Amino acid sequence: LANNREIGIGLMGLGVVGTEVARTLLEKEHSISSKLGCTVRIKRILVRAPEKERRYVPADVVLTDGAEGLIDDPAIDIIVEVMGGEYPALEYVQRALRAGKHVVTANKEMMAKHGPEILTLAHEHSVSIRFEAGVGGGIPIIGPLLKDLLANDIYGISAIINGTTNYVLTKMGMEGLEFNDAVRQAQALGYAEADPAADVEGLDAAYKLAILASLAFHTKIHASDVYYEGITKLGPADFKYAAELGYAIKLLAIGRMEGTSIQVRVHPTLVPVEHPLASVCGVFNAVELEGDLVGQVMFSGQGAGGQPTASAVVGDVLDIARNIVSGSNPPAPLLLDGACTIQPMADLETQYYIRLLAVDEPGVMAQITTVLGDLKVSLASVIQKEIVQPEGFSEIVITTHTAKESAVQEAVQRMRSLGSVQEVSNLVRMLDGEG
Ligand code: NAP
Ligand code: HSE
Repeated sequence: LANNREIGIGLMGLGVVGTEVARTLLEKEHSISSKLGCTVRIKRILVRAPEKERRYVPADVVLTDGAEGLIDDPAIDIIVEVMGGEYPALEYVQRALRAGKHVVTANKEMMAKHGPEILTLAHEHSVSIRFEAGVGGGIPIIGPLLKDLLANDIYGISAIINGTTNYVLTKMGMEGLEFNDAVRQAQALGYAEADPAADVEGLDAAYKLAILASLAFHTKIHASDVYYEGITKLGPADFKYAAELGYAIKLLAIGRMEGTSIQVRVHPTLVPVEHPLASVCGVFNAVELEGDLVGQVMFSGQGAGGQPTASAVVGDVLDIARNIVSGSNPPAPLLLDGACTIQPMADLETQYYIRLLAVDEPGVMAQITTVLGDLKVSLASVIQKEIVQPEGFSEIVITTHTAKESAVQEAVQRMRSLGSVQEVSNLVRMLDGEG
């Protein structure tokens, strides 16, 4: 197969990920050509501000702010989109596919909102679209879902798929760092999105879950189908009580398929310390899948950061380059035509952790347990700290047996209206009994 063909790359974005993609392609040019039998070379790079001072610019490569310079360049075979955001990324990717360019992207927002139409467009123009880096940074997970696990009916996904929040939760839970300090560290390390609210509010993980669940359950799941809740309401007390109860707190992305009903949700979750996901720390991500043939299978690795993400992006680029050299046609996309319905959150059944602040006087526990009992929510454990600030109040932490979300939410409302309850400080779902 060896030939001296040069595969031209148009790189859109030279930020955290783009810089490492450029560096990898340049520094590994010889080892890549000896593996592939062709040269893979960046021709042009699209940025917002070409004049900006940068820590790395590959020599002899034109920096431009005009996307057409990449899309219309006949020497460019593959567009690598690592700019981020929905627009103009979507527009550029669609134009590139229509122009017969293969596309590699790390853009989960774009894929979670427009994945099916992008896959169809690529197929219509006989080009590849790859997005391994869109979920789990350096972890290979899209490839296995599209290939190695295809014989399975996948019915469960339990995943940590946001590096920033896992880093922040680890720093808060294990080192007692303040939330804002931990977020600043994650930003400095290049893990966070341009607007880190997308990470800490759970939206980034929701995009990734929409992509994973669509491929795993062979149905179109749009970003807006995913229920999401972030980590901003968690405080030091929650980490302390969770540890006393034998749990770690993780932002989990959970997908379940039962018959034609699908659950897709992202929220902080109390995970038993002995569960493998409880020990996934820092920027590491992990995706646990359950399939009828394979049983449980887990993928883990660094879920964010320039180099791990470049590993996935460049891997996709090289696979496409190899196909170009061998003259292989891109495979048809998976059919995502399963007729499924998304289960409303109100119908979820799981266990719950509730932390509240109540007046420290006789009869208060009885009022709280009556509220729960009336709604058929049964208690699994209660921790009551005698006196906390403000003086005269006690903090009560309740865990429940499996109960219905609608009943637990109603119980929280009723507890809030009890004169003896100052506040219901937090409600966190638990992994126990599922997954
Ligand atoms: P970043 O550091 O903010 O870099 C974005 C780059 O894109 C910058 O070079 C910027 O140009 C350029 N850009 C942005 N908007 C543009 C526009 N409208 N026109 C031209 N150029 C534009 O972002 P990143 O962290 O590398 O992330 C890039 C993508 O990878 C995102 O989709 C992100 O979700 C995804 N991703 C990131 C990670 C990670 O760990 N960081 C991991 C997996 C996936 P200037 O330099 O001129 O501003
Ligand atoms: N901001 C994302 C994260 C980057 O923290 O996981 C990787 O997709």
